[in-house]
Amino acid sequence: MFLVSRACLFIVDSRTSPVLPTIRSHENVFVMSESVNQPILYVENLGKSVASLDASTNQPLVILHDIHLSVMPGESLAIIGPSGSGKSTLLGLLAGLDTPSTGSIHLAGENMGQMNEDQRAALRGEKLGFIFQSFQLLPTFTALENVMLPMELSDKHPSGESGLGLQQQAEQLLSRVGLGERLQHYPAQLSGGEQQRVAIARAFLSRPALLLADEPTGNLDAHTGQRIIDLMFELNTEHQTTLVLVTHDSTLADRCDRVMALHDGCFKTNADVEKESQSTPGIATSDTASTTTPSTTSTPKKSSTA
Ligand SMILES: Nc1ncnc2c1ncn2[C@@H]1O[C@H](COP(=O)(O)OP(=O)(O)OP(=O)(O)O)[C@@H](O)[C@H]1O
Ligand SMILES: [Mg+2]
Repeated sequence: MFLVSRACLFIVDSRTSPVLPTIRSHENVFVMSESVNQPILYVENLGKSVASLDASTNQPLVILHDIHLSVMPGESLAIIGPSGSGKSTLLGLLAGLDTPSTGSIHLAGENMGQMNEDQRAALRGEKLGFIFQSFQLLPTFTALENVMLPMELSDKHPSGESGLGLQQQAEQLLSRVGLGERLQHYPAQLSGGEQQRVAIARAFLSRPALLLADEPTGNLDAHTGQRIIDLMFELNTEHQTTLVLVTHDSTLADRCDRVMALHDGCFKTNADVEKESQSTPGIATSDTASTTTPSTTSTPKKSSTA
C-alpha cells in the first residue's frame, strides 16, 4: 500500500498499513488499499518543541517535526541519524515517557495522547520494554533485583511456558547476556557495558510486544555487542517481538528489516538526500540513498511478507 502525505513522503507496504480511521483524518493522505492488519505502533504528525530558545531563530527549539511512522508486529526498524538529530527524544515519546507537542502515537491501537499517566503506565507495563541510552538502573538494587523489579511492581507475570519462576527467568536472562556471575553486584560495581547488559535483561524479562532500545550496543565491545544483537533477534523471532532500535552501529542496522534516517528532527526523504548529494558531492549514504521511488523515509532490508 502507498501512502502519500504532504509533509514527509513515505511508502508503507501492506505490513505497515495503519489503522484506517486514523488515516482518514489525515489531510492529503490517500489510502489505496485496505488492510485489517493493525500496526503495533502508529505515529502521525508527531512534533516536539521545548521552551528553550533556538539561538538561530530566537523561537522555541523544535526538536522533532512531521514524524510519521508505522511499524507492524514482528518488524524490526533501525533509526539512525547524527548526534542531536532527535533519536532519543523520539524514543521517549514513543514510550509515552514524554508528551508530544503535536500529533498522535498509537501503541497497540491505543491513542496514548487520550490516556492519563496511570493508563499510559499500565499500557507501557503490558506492551513495552525500554532500553535507555543511560541504562537507568537503580543504584541500591543488585543486578538481579534491577531485572526483576519492573515485573514485581506490575500485574504482568512472566510467561509460564518455560515453567520457571520470575527469579529463575531473571537469572537465566542475566546469564544469556553474560552476567551469570554478577547477579548480586550493584550498578556501581559493574562496568558501563555490564550495566547496559543488565538494562537489556530487564527489558527482555516481560517479553514485551515492542522493544524500544536506545543505542543498545553503544557501550559494548564488538564480541559482546554481537551477542546482544543475536539475543534481540532471537526474541524477535521466538516471540514476534517488534524491535525499534536507535543505533550508530551499522552491524545492528543491517540486521533490521528497515532503516530510517532522522536529520534535524525529521525523517529524511530520498529527495532530501539527492538535493544534499548534488550540493555536497559524496554526502549521500547507503542508508538513505538506495531507496526506491517515490521518495521514502525508509530503506527496506528484507522483502515484506504480507
Ligand atoms: N529538554 C530539552 N531542552 C532543550 N533541548 C533539548 C531537550 N531535550 C533534548 N534537547 C535537544 O534536542 C536535540 C535532540 O536531542 P536527542 O537527545 O534526542 O538527540 P539524539 O539524536 O538522541 O543524539 P545522540 O545520538 O547524541 O544521543 C539536541 O540538540 C538536544 O540538545
Ligand atoms: Mg540519544
